[in-house]
Amino acid sequence: MREILRVEGLKMYFGGLKAVDNLDMSVYQHKTLGVIGPNGAGKTTLFNAICGVYKPTGGKVILNGQEVQGSKPYEIARKGIARTFQISKPLHDLTILDNIIAASGVHQYTGVSSFFKKSHTREVVEKAEAVMEMVGLTEIARKKARDVSLGYLRRLEIARVLVTNPQLIMLDEPCAGLSNFAINEITELILKLKAQGQTIVLIEHNLPITMKVCDRILVLNYGQKIAEGTPSEVQQEKQVIEAYLGEEDED
Ligand SMILES: Nc1ncnc2c1ncn2[C@@H]1O[C@H](COP(=O)(O)OP(=O)(O)O)[C@@H](O)[C@H]1O
Ligand SMILES: [Mg+2]
Repeated sequence: MREILRVEGLKMYFGGLKAVDNLDMSVYQHKTLGVIGPNGAGKTTLFNAICGVYKPTGGKVILNGQEVQGSKPYEIARKGIARTFQISKPLHDLTILDNIIAASGVHQYTGVSSFFKKSHTREVVEKAEAVMEMVGLTEIARKKARDVSLGYLRRLEIARVLVTNPQLIMLDEPCAGLSNFAINEITELILKLKAQGQTIVLIEHNLPITMKVCDRILVLNYGQKIAEGTPSEVQQEKQVIEAYLGEEDED
């Protein structure tokens, strides 16, 4: 099993708050790693510290054997990590298809204005159309992003990630706030990506979804890893059950 990403002793502190503390994590090629934990556990911060949104307070982020901690987000993206955001950030005035084309961006477009200045090659358009078909957005290709529902926007986020041909896909709560129907659709999509051999890190608040799609699961609580293992191993951990049961304000 090839290790694509390794995180060693990662720390991300905000003043006195240890949002991520001394975290070790490995992501293997073609596998799906789940990162779960209560709200505020540090899941999104972990993504941000890996992807260069934040400069880690300490520790290493090793991508394909190369240390990349402290790199800028676009540098990390060029090196092959693509991530979605917990809050969708489409280009609202562009169509679904154009949003996907624009996301080829890490390699070709630096922003909306350069997108409009450039005429896209046949190859770029065909790739975007193929990805759009794969995630099930072809029917609404010509709709503007501002006019589509959250379920579609989440699929658009995944499409924008896929079109960059990433080595590693990081999804931040792709099911949050969706109806059960839309949750099932996203879950099926993740399983499809897995079947294609993609390497995925999935942040998910929902335990059953994580159990269904992940090969291994890492459990965070107060910035620290409290458990790691296969879904069935993790499910039996006392600390995991407590971290979840201790959370009264379920969403
Ligand atoms: N930019 C920031 N500045 C200060 N505190 C932050 C910042 N980002 C996150 N935090 C804090 O770090 C902790 C972990 O947050 P987060 O990573 O968003 O949790 P999760 O994604 O697991 O719900 C929380 O206490 C949050 O308030
Ligand atoms: Mg989060």
